[in-house]
Amino acid sequence: MHELYTVLAKYYDSIYRRRAQEISREVAFLEEVFREDAKREVRDVLDLACGTGIPTVELANRGYNVVGIDLHEEMLEVARRKTDKVKFIQGNALEINFREEFDAVTMLFSSITYFNEEKLMILFRKVHEALRPGGVFIADFPQWFVVRNLGPFVWDEVHGEERLIITDWREVLPGVQKVRFKRLVQILRPNGEVRAFFVSDELNIYTPREIKLLGGEVFGEVRVYSDYERKLRENAKRFWAVMVKA
Ligand SMILES: C[S@@+](CC[C@H](N)C(=O)[O-])C[C@H]1O[C@@H](n2cnc3c(N)ncnc32)[C@H](O)[C@@H]1O
Repeated sequence: MHELYTVLAKYYDSIYRRRAQEISREVAFLEEVFREDAKREVRDVLDLACGTGIPTVELANRGYNVVGIDLHEEMLEVARRKTDKVKFIQGNALEINFREEFDAVTMLFSSITYFNEEKLMILFRKVHEALRPGGVFIADFPQWFVVRNLGPFVWDEVHGEERLIITDWREVLPGVQKVRFKRLVQILRPNGEVRAFFVSDELNIYTPREIKLLGGEVFGEVRVYSDYERKLRENAKRFWAVMVKA
């Protein structure tokens, strides 16, 4: 998968153009959670696995002091070109060493599915240390378990003079609760030249109950919400884990 975040980093925002267009709705929901669930006013936010900064920049534009961390420098190069309001730092979310420096920590667009249970526990401990008392951690994750439509999903986007044709498909491995995610990105130049990249990855499937159990070990109570509502719905497409530091 790393080619998506390295050689294809400059195409990332074009590939996810529709999600980027919805970001104000997503960040409005984050702000609702900040207001309703955090037990302190949220001003300082750490956005982990921030990628090209799609949500990070929106948070900064809404007045928060934001630090963005991502593993891939190529993603951060794209992010830094968008704003100088955010401090973007290259690093591994599992190796952060902040001590009560943030009112909120976010990890968005299913980034927690990169971590298996053992790594997720390390992440939760690191996030807990980084939060001030009353601070909130928010991470979204998809509903994969009931996925019937495994693709292929094909769509196209424009990137400057180039045209992108993206084909995604996936395989669910229920026994080990993983998804094999596969993507073919074809880049068509105006002169007819075509380049093709194949990326694949194994992502971890979590149910709301598992996230509550794992997160609960570190944070105590964990709430899970659905789509853009502060409620858990059984047939939601996407969940939001919300953990508050006591
Ligand atoms: C699906 S993208 C999401 C990017 C961004 N959060 C967003 O909402 O657009 C996943 C990101 O996670 C980053 N990532 C994966 N493992 C990481 C880790 N251990 N530490 C920091 N970033 C990581 C990747 O480099 C990539 O930018």
